[in-house]
Amino acid sequence: MRITMIGTGYVGLTTGVCFAELGHSVMCLDTNKEKIDLLKNGVCPIFEEGLESLIEKNSATGRLSFVTSYAEAIPCADVVFFCVDTPPGEYGKANLTNLLAAASECAHHLDGYTVLVNKSTAPVGTAKKIQNAVRNINPTASFDIASNPEFLAEGSAIRNFLEPDRIIVGTENEKTATMLKLVYAPLIEQGRNFLSVTIPSAELIKYASNSFLAMKVSFINEIADFCELVGADVSDIAHGMGLDTRIGSKFLQASIGFGGSCFGKDVHALVMRGQEEGYEFRMIKALIAVNELRYLTVIKKLKKHLGPLQGKTVAVLGLAYKAGTDDVRDAQTLRIILDLLDHAVIVRAYDPQAMENFKKIFRRSDEVTFAQSAQSASDGADALLILTEWNEFKSIDLADIKTNMSGTLIVDGRNIFERKTAEVAGFTYEGIGT
Ligand code: UDX
Repeated sequence: MRITMIGTGYVGLTTGVCFAELGHSVMCLDTNKEKIDLLKNGVCPIFEEGLESLIEKNSATGRLSFVTSYAEAIPCADVVFFCVDTPPGEYGKANLTNLLAAASECAHHLDGYTVLVNKSTAPVGTAKKIQNAVRNINPTASFDIASNPEFLAEGSAIRNFLEPDRIIVGTENEKTATMLKLVYAPLIEQGRNFLSVTIPSAELIKYASNSFLAMKVSFINEIADFCELVGADVSDIAHGMGLDTRIGSKFLQASIGFGGSCFGKDVHALVMRGQEEGYEFRMIKALIAVNELRYLTVIKKLKKHLGPLQGKTVAVLGLAYKAGTDDVRDAQTLRIILDLLDHAVIVRAYDPQAMENFKKIFRRSDEVTFAQSAQSASDGADALLILTEWNEFKSIDLADIKTNMSGTLIVDGRNIFERKTAEVAGFTYEGIGT
């Protein structure tokens, strides 16, 4: 099949490369020439395990190419996927400007029957808007519209694509569903779940899934805070709960709260979409409220041991919103470091992948000292503050790191250390819910 991906952001690029890996002929289109030039030279503009080698492999076979022109990428395609960013707009409502602009541009170049698929996460009703945008520009175009939400998590995106729990497609007719079945045929043949539903259902499955996962995180974080009051251990609670197959063990890791480009944006967008229908999502509002105050947990723990924070030095280990990515969008680390700076704390930060991205988006990054290792970040520090669960941090020699520090406090926002190990190394240990 000839597939065109519009947008080479995180989702568009990973999905396009994986479609080529499945054997399709894929063109990735982006109007950002700089990015396309990098990709043409085999350089992956994002950090995602295994992606660069798949780009190289599939470009070499001729199945994968990168272009900047709609005129080149659209007429030849059997299926076009929209993977354009839908950033939060006013009051958290998804902003569809880029997506609908891409649809209009695409409309000019349609030639022969084409299936247009929205993969960008966008509220219920968006596929219809794309359909209307295309019809307005090109009333005689022969096309069908579909929705095919993505469920890729950063750091494991390739595995998530090639070994999906489910493939969801929303279509208006059997013909479109059959086309999309052909696109995913190699995965369906492996026995992967393929669920064909209506377009509004497909659109809502994505929001409902992300909201549910975000709710699990906020839920366990509330339980974690209560554990500290009653002497329980949240890891035991999560383990005990997770053994019930109705609950499941995933997404019950107590933490500094969820971040990243999806959860926060999607839960807000769903609440806003609800409001448009006169519907109030009370549970989703509650999970948002829990997460919004989550950054205070580690600040309180620092204060408990260090007293007033002014002038104290804190070594922040981890800036990415989770391990395995260089992404800091909507990361709790941004809120936490901002609050530390507001308290006049001297912040020394280190992250194995995300420091450049952090510097780009954190408006007070000139007030942060960036170190080249966990060891050098902790030089002279009163406390270690762990914010991302990188494996590199799990293997830190605590006794060794302590020798260069002024203080002996670890606030472990990801529970990567055992209390006992930290205490044996001479630290005072504060985890989450332990
Ligand atoms: C998420 C969805 O998982 C994915 O299906 C969707 O396509 C995009 O959004 P992603 O944002 O990459 O993926 O990260 P995810 O692994 O879901 O984690 C989101 C946030 O929740 C991170 O900040 C993570 O640290 C936090 N989290 C996750 C926890 O705090 N505890 C957990 O148990 C799980």
